[in-house]
This record gives sequence, C-alpha cells and structure tokens, in this order.
Amino acid sequence: KTIPEVESLLSKMTLEEKIGQLNLLTPGGGIATGSVVSENVEAKIRAGQVGGLFGVSGPEKVRQAQEIAIKNSRLKIPLLIGSDIIHGYKTTYPIPLGVAASWNMELIENAAKMAAKEATADGINWNFSPMVDISRDARWGRISEGSGEDPYLGSAIATAMVKGYQGDDLSISHTMMATVKHLALYGAVEAGRDYNSVDMSKVKMYNQYLPPYQAAVNAGVGSAMTSFNDIDGIPATGNKWLITDLLRKQWGFKGFVVSDYTSVNEMIAHGSGDLQAVSAQSLNAGLDMDMVGEGFLTTLKKSVQEGKVTEEAITIACRRILTAKYELGLLDDPYRYSDTSRPAKDILTAENRLAARKIATQSFVLLKNENNVLPLQKDAKIALVGPLANDKNNMLGTWAPTGDPQLSIPVLEGLKNVAPKAKISFAKGANITNDTELAKRANVFGLRVDIDTRTPEAMLSEALKNSKHADVIVAVVGEASEFAGEAASRTDISIPQSQKKLINALVDTGKPVVLVLFSGRPLTISEEFNLPVSILQVWNPGVEAGNAIADVLFGDYNPSGKLTASWPRNVGQIPIYHSMKNTGRPAPTHQFEKFKSNYLDSEISPLFPFGYGLSYTSFEYSELAVNKDKFKQGESINVSVRVKNTGDYDGEEVVQLYLKDQVRSITPPVRQLKGFQKIFLKKGASKTVTLTLSADDLKFYNSELKFVAEPGKFKVFVGGNSNAEMSADFELE
Ligand code: IFM
Repeated sequence: KTIPEVESLLSKMTLEEKIGQLNLLTPGGGIATGSVVSENVEAKIRAGQVGGLFGVSGPEKVRQAQEIAIKNSRLKIPLLIGSDIIHGYKTTYPIPLGVAASWNMELIENAAKMAAKEATADGINWNFSPMVDISRDARWGRISEGSGEDPYLGSAIATAMVKGYQGDDLSISHTMMATVKHLALYGAVEAGRDYNSVDMSKVKMYNQYLPPYQAAVNAGVGSAMTSFNDIDGIPATGNKWLITDLLRKQWGFKGFVVSDYTSVNEMIAHGSGDLQAVSAQSLNAGLDMDMVGEGFLTTLKKSVQEGKVTEEAITIACRRILTAKYELGLLDDPYRYSDTSRPAKDILTAENRLAARKIATQSFVLLKNENNVLPLQKDAKIALVGPLANDKNNMLGTWAPTGDPQLSIPVLEGLKNVAPKAKISFAKGANITNDTELAKRANVFGLRVDIDTRTPEAMLSEALKNSKHADVIVAVVGEASEFAGEAASRTDISIPQSQKKLINALVDTGKPVVLVLFSGRPLTISEEFNLPVSILQVWNPGVEAGNAIADVLFGDYNPSGKLTASWPRNVGQIPIYHSMKNTGRPAPTHQFEKFKSNYLDSEISPLFPFGYGLSYTSFEYSELAVNKDKFKQGESINVSVRVKNTGDYDGEEVVQLYLKDQVRSITPPVRQLKGFQKIFLKKGASKTVTLTLSADDLKFYNSELKFVAEPGKFKVFVGGNSNAEMSADFELE
C-alpha cells in the first residue's frame, strides 16, 4: 500500500539521503560484537547519513539522538532505535532456550510483552529478537538464544514472541518492532563452530529449519536479519534466493531486511569480492539496511554511477525503512519513545520481577530425583556449595546487555528468602573452571569468571567440612554465562573438571546431593547422571534466579519444564534430535548389532530425549483414541488421551503428540512433534486432553518442494516426551 507521508518524503530525497537511511550505526556502549565500532556518529546523523542506531538507551539519550536528526538533518527524518532484548530488558528472565522449556505460549507472549514495555520506556523502538534458528548441535554457543531443535515448537514460540513484542499496533508506545533472525539456517553451522558454513538439502531446509522464520513472517514481524553463514555457497546477506525469492515472494514478507553486524563487509572474507561488489550484491539481493559496516554508505552511489545497482533499488529499500518508521509512529512524533516519566513506572517493577520469577520457575527441568529427595523441607540443614551458588555474575545468562548482573538474586540469597528457617551453610567448593585461558575467554560484556586465590584443596575441604552436619547438599554447578552465546562454541560440553571433582567428593560423603545445574546449552552429563544425585536444570534463570530456584527446590512450585533439545550422551552423537530418520538399517533399541546403524562405543539414543522432564508428581496416560480411522484431505482429526495425576503433588504436564508418516515419497522422520498442551492437574485428578491434527499437520515439502499430504497410513504417539510409546493409527484417503 502507498503511504502518502512516506511517498512525500521520498519525492524530496536525494540519492545520498536515501542511501543514508540504509545505514545502521552503533556508537558502541559495551555491546559491540565485532571489531568495528561506528565513528563520527553525530556528524553522520546531521548529514542525513544514518537511518537507525543501536546501543543508545534511556529516554533522554534517545531524545538527544532524535533531536540531532530532527533539528539538523535536512529532511528531519527520525531514527530507528534498536537493541538486543532477547530475554528481558532490565527485568531479565531466563535465556530463550530455558523459556522455551516452559512450553507455555501464553507465558512466552507475556514475557515478550513485558520486555517491550520496559524497553520502549527506555527509548527503544526496534528489537533484534526473536532468534528462531533451529539448532541440533549443542556445541554451538548460540543454541542458548533460540528455542531448540524442533520446527513445530519453534514456530509456535516465534509467533508468540512476535505477538508479544509487536502487539496489534506498532505505533502504540508500549510495543516495539520485532526482528526475526538470523535468516537463515544459522543454527546448522558445521561442527557447531560459530559463523561457519552451512550446507543443507532444500528438503531438509524447508521441512526442518525454515518453518519458524516463516511463522514469524506470518505473525507480521516487522523486520528480518540475515545470518553470517553462507547457504548454497552464497553468504545469506547477499543471497537473492533467500531474501527476495523465498522471504519476499514465497512468504510475502512486507517488512525490511537488515544485515547482521558487518555481515556485508564479511562477504569479502567469504570470498565474494571487494566492498563495493559485496555491497552491490547485497542490495541487489534485497537487503535494505547495512549494520555498522558502512558498505552501503560508502559505495552505493558509485555503484549507481557505474550501473551496478539502480537508484530504483535504493528507493525501494529506503521506502521499506521509512514505512517502518511510519508504522512505529515516528513520522508523526519522533519523541514517541522519549517519555522521561516512564522508566520509573515501567522498568524493573515489583510486578515484573515477580513475572520473571514465575517464568524462571516454569523453565526449570527436573532431570532426575534420586529417592525423591526433592522437594526439600523448609527447615532442613542445607550445605550449599558450588561456584555458582553465590555468584551474581552468572545468573542472567548470555547476551543480556541491558540487564544489570548486580541486581540479580544469587541462589544463597534466594534460599534464605524462601526458607528463612532452613540452616544454610555456604562454601564455594571449587572454581567454575581452573583453566585460566577458558575463564579469560568467558570474561566478556563486563561479566567475570573468577578464579579463587585459594588452592582447590582448601576450597574443597571447606565444602566437605560444611557438608558434615547437613541433611542435604545442594551443589550449584555448571557453565558460566559466557560459556555459551555468540562466539562461545565448545568442543567439550561437559561440566568442567574442577566441578566434577567437587561433585564426586560430595557424593562420597554419602549425604543426599542435589545438583542445581546452570548451562546455556544441553550438556553431556552421563557421568553425573550415573551418580546417586538429583539434578535440576535451571539454565541461566535471570534476575530472579535465586528466588525461583528456591521456589522449586522447596516445592512452592512443582517443576514442569521439558527439554526442547535432546541432551547427548557424548559429543560424538551430535547432531542429535528426535525427528531423525529411520535409515535402511535401523539399530535395535538397547543392544549393539553389527551392520546396523549404531555406534561401537555408545548407545544411539540421547541421555535425555526431546520433550523430557520430570515432576514431583507422576502422570499416567491411558485411553488414547482417534475420532476417525480414515480421514480425507482437508479434514482434521482429533486425538484424545486421558491423563491422571497419580502422585502426591498438584502439577503440570506437557502432553505431547508425535506423528509418524508410515510411507511417503521422501523418507519420513521416525516421529515429529505435531501438537502439545500444557495442563494442570490436582493430585488424584484426571482429564481427557484432545489435540487436533489439521490437514496441514500431515503435509511436508516433497522433492519438488511442494507442500503436500500423501495418502497412506499414519501413526500418532502421545505421552510426556518424545519417547512416548502409546500409539494409535489412522489413514489419509
Ligand atoms: O542482533 C545481533 C546479532 O544477533 C548478532 N550480531 C550483532 C547483532 C546486533 O547486536
């Protein structure tokens, strides 16, 4: 549609001014994730050479920035003010991989809404989230920023986040524009090494990796960010098939596309040509905005003069950026997001902190409850040990640049808050790691991995001394925040040696041991799992970490989280995911067989499957039924199951439905998630849950990339994780 305000501006703009709108800069401010930081930002805004900024926040600062544009640039065009708000603004909640484990779409949408309200109060109008990259490789540090391995769940979460950030009307001052990122396939980088190449068949792409990006587009996301990797040998930022054919033409995306941090320039290192060539390639591919690298700013005019790009292409890109500004209400009022009265009212309120605590409790996954040690008594004698038990630096998790670690509640404080009658002793017991190089590499964004000046022996003996008189030992262990995240890939994803020693020594005391496990990714914890310990996975829980952990440890909240990425037994199993193929020589489930698709030295199953998570209570499934055995194209089918809470606590369960297409023209996955519902059941209560499979749920992209359902036999499995055994059959006619 034509927007008169936008067209009127465009009609007055020079070529240089149009190119200026395509330029996104950051003055730095501790958030640079590349080696380049923009210079002379103010002068460039005055000269009409800047379309947006990120790394600027606070209503006064944002007003100052807008004033520079409004009072000094010729056409007085306001700026987009971007930021990375991926798990809460100042009220930080768990890392996205943790939030996903809640399987609670309403909670996720409200979390995004809360983040939008806080961020817009601080002047931000554009968010670089949701990150929807499917990842099946826990070595990749950025698996922490997404929703895990599954396209169906990932699509639901992408939709909820876009709705939460954007609401129904972008021009309302409590909503902000969302960015679906990173287009595309960034989570499939080879060997889990960040920024690496991606090479994938089109059917895998369409069926397994692209759906969440498309879901965000369908939800009306305002912008999209390209990824650092190449696809089919063409860097995503300059990939015409990706940006124009797929995103715009096939999916109907109407917003604008921004590059990642200097990803236009990085095409030079990819081997695509010099700065002028890669900038022209990117614009011609459909990229609208260049983040930080200034390739557009410095070369596009020359490319127009040399006939390498058209002014028309620049006008189209500029129109898209101006349209976003119009939709945000900025053309109407450039100071819409500069209300100085808002931060005190809207940011870090008691209500928001309570919400963050609730989100965190729902993100935790109970991996093991040895002898039902959990929940703990509120008057117990507890030896709290571990390097993460009293460490504010590592509660928020990776990429929380707008959060303040010093405001976070460490576990020690949380336990005291929730159980004031408990007798709690604390000892660090071990360093997060004794590897000084690893610790140094994880000291970024002002966060620290401190190595104690005491000897490991002295630290351990203090922990053992404290443990002597305890009823139970709670050991808070795992990864530091920056062991995961961008450029934080690991080849060894086990608990660091320093902490393993501590855990083993604690187990040797014979006391019950509960591991509270922090991590930004699935870890390999077979050794710890085989010890007589309970394990509560808490990811990086955010600003309310300690309180939320205490809520769950003491049973004020019964854990309900379920894993959204399979946990491998060892790194050699990666990539590992539930929707794998059967192969022509499927391995028997529990034993080795020669000439079958198995390993000599490991089982093929993960340690914890996708969808797995325990509760303090237990659930029994029965009476699985489908409402018809045969069903026609275009119809839907109801799958119902009775779920009973058979344990001693009220609790929530995520009822999951997996589909197996028995025969199809391209080899089907062994099963794929196609439905879920999170339910609450009082102890002893039961309920019939009905999940509906639509005609689209049976469809897949065939070898011609047509989205089809093929007649034949299907099986549905329903249960509490992806190993669900109860099944029913039906046929598509
Ligand atoms: O949004 C991020 C992106 O995810 C990684 N590179 C930097 C961008 C802006 O901070």
